[in-house]
Amino acid sequence: MTLRTTLAVCALLLGMCSGTDGKEATIPTTTAFCKIVWLIGVPCDQVTTAIVSQIKAMGSYNLGSVTPTVIQANHTSGIGQIESVNFTMTPTSMVLGCHVQGSSVSAVWFSLYDNGTNFCNLRNVIKGSGLTKAPGFMEFTNEWLCLGCALSAC
Ligand SMILES: *[C@@H]1O[C@H](CO)[C@@H](O)[C@H](O)[C@H]1NC(C)=O
Ligand SMILES: *[C@@H]1O[C@H](CO)[C@@H](O)[C@H](O)[C@H]1NC(C)=O
Ligand SMILES: *[C@@H]1O[C@H](CO)[C@@H](O)[C@H](O)[C@H]1NC(C)=O
Repeated sequence: MTLRTTLAVCALLLGMCSGTDGKEATIPTTTAFCKIVWLIGVPCDQVTTAIVSQIKAMGSYNLGSVTPTVIQANHTSGIGQIESVNFTMTPTSMVLGCHVQGSSVSAVWFSLYDNGTNFCNLRNVIKGSGLTKAPGFMEFTNEWLCLGCALSAC
């Protein structure tokens, strides 16, 4: 498959979250969570550096262990809730590309319906790092992977 075809397929998938237009998710889970996958057209070591410096620059995050493939952090929300946030980097077969999986899970039961907190925890880091403007940037998620992603206004 050519790169162009791949991107066209990705663009179709991308509509899944934004297309739900604020309709509420009714997914039974025990804690709120969000998973997002990004494809970014820069090498993973640069992606790691950008994510780490962005997390350090944001006061609401506590940076945990950082390896070339996994970045761990905790995020504290305004009301004192804590979410665990991980970014996992895998080089893609595409030249110079990086596949990043972000995952955010709330530590406490009362944030089951989190209004997109976990989505924003991930999205704000990637957006703030400038990676959303990187060549070939694509984001995938939907209501099954990311509770409240259609409701959130980060
Ligand atoms: C994140 O929170 C967990 C659970 O409260 C704690 O065990 C861990 O040490 C925290 N990590 C960081 C980097 O603050
Ligand atoms: C992040 O990774 C750690 C260690 O593998 C795991 O314990 C934690 O549940 C993960 N957090 C998320 C949000 O996936
Ligand atoms: C989510 O938003 C609704 C409506 O704005 C609000 O009533 C509710 O308290 C919020 N929940 C959380 C966990 O912030």
